[in-house]
Amino acid sequence: LVNGLAQTPQMGWNNYNHFSRNISDQLIRETADAMVSSGLSALGYRYINMDDGWAELNRDSNGNLVPRASIFPSGIKAVADYVHGKGLQLGIYGDAGTLTCSKLMPGSLGYEEQDAKTFASWGVDYLKYDNCHNNDISPQERYKTMSKALLNSGRKIFFSLCEWGQDNPATWAPNVGNSWRTTGDINDSWDSMTSRADQNDKWASYAAPGGWNDPDMLEVGNDGMTTEEYRSHFSIWALAKAPLLIGCDVRSMSSDTIEILSNKEVISVNQDELGVQGKKVKSHASLEVWAGPLSGGRVALVLWNRSSSKASITAHWSDIGLKPSVSVQARDLWAHSTISSVQGKLTATMESHACKMYVLTPQ
Ligand code: GLA
Repeated sequence: LVNGLAQTPQMGWNNYNHFSRNISDQLIRETADAMVSSGLSALGYRYINMDDGWAELNRDSNGNLVPRASIFPSGIKAVADYVHGKGLQLGIYGDAGTLTCSKLMPGSLGYEEQDAKTFASWGVDYLKYDNCHNNDISPQERYKTMSKALLNSGRKIFFSLCEWGQDNPATWAPNVGNSWRTTGDINDSWDSMTSRADQNDKWASYAAPGGWNDPDMLEVGNDGMTTEEYRSHFSIWALAKAPLLIGCDVRSMSSDTIEILSNKEVISVNQDELGVQGKKVKSHASLEVWAGPLSGGRVALVLWNRSSSKASITAHWSDIGLKPSVSVQARDLWAHSTISSVQGKLTATMESHACKMYVLTPQ
């Protein structure tokens, strides 16, 4: 969507993966504090997004959405002001139907203009727009209506479509939103994470600055996967130009979690100005090569061992867009070390479910 946003994939946090519907004014403020004190905000994570459940079930007598008094006693504007004061931005959640998925609050169907103006008046910077209770009206119609309403709201608001890939959004959403979910909800497991990565992969050619494929939010730090699995999760999301929306409790992260989420070299692959989604280019017996071009003629490469035992994987230059004769400098983004004069192919060995991630720079 041409609204001046999403030149690179969005980075930030959302409460849903860790807290489900338990949100509050206090959680949002403490999270904003932790994003700054942990150093994450300085790395580019700037959207603090609340998910389902923030509003009362009933609109007021003028049809306006009303913040749930028990959890947002000072309203949403006060929270937005606080978040902005930290140099961050506030995201909110809505639904392109009559009720949200939790059934805790109303959806925006038929109230798009009014709700977009309300969000703008509160200083909201981002809308995640869900798909429940939609009366079987086509997603394109419902999401376009909100897209227009946001453009007319008087504030620049990032528009994140969440219709779970039902109507092949990659084929129409680039004109409607800044990102679109390509899958159902992720959960904190290896199978869920790998299947989201695969389902998202086939839409790679539709991603570009202004609009990104979204395989759902990160589970890094939520304890359902091993550290190597989380490293793979983060590496593939970065390579695939997926939104990097942290889904753990950033007030209490382990050192492994903070190390993964703070890897500047991996983040800069995700945020590369060329904005081309990397994809799976080779797969044999669960040994996979994922790659994509970066600015400056560089190539991002992930070797991913999805098998159940230790294994070696080789990337051949012909599979990753390099001429066989080209010699590169290979930067290992997790070991933070460099190998020079690598020509024709690169081989590495890794444990089950682990990956290696490189940036290859032609010499
Ligand atoms: C849907 C969305 C999730 C989350 C929940 C909230 O399932 O896909 O990301 O927003 O609703 O109820």
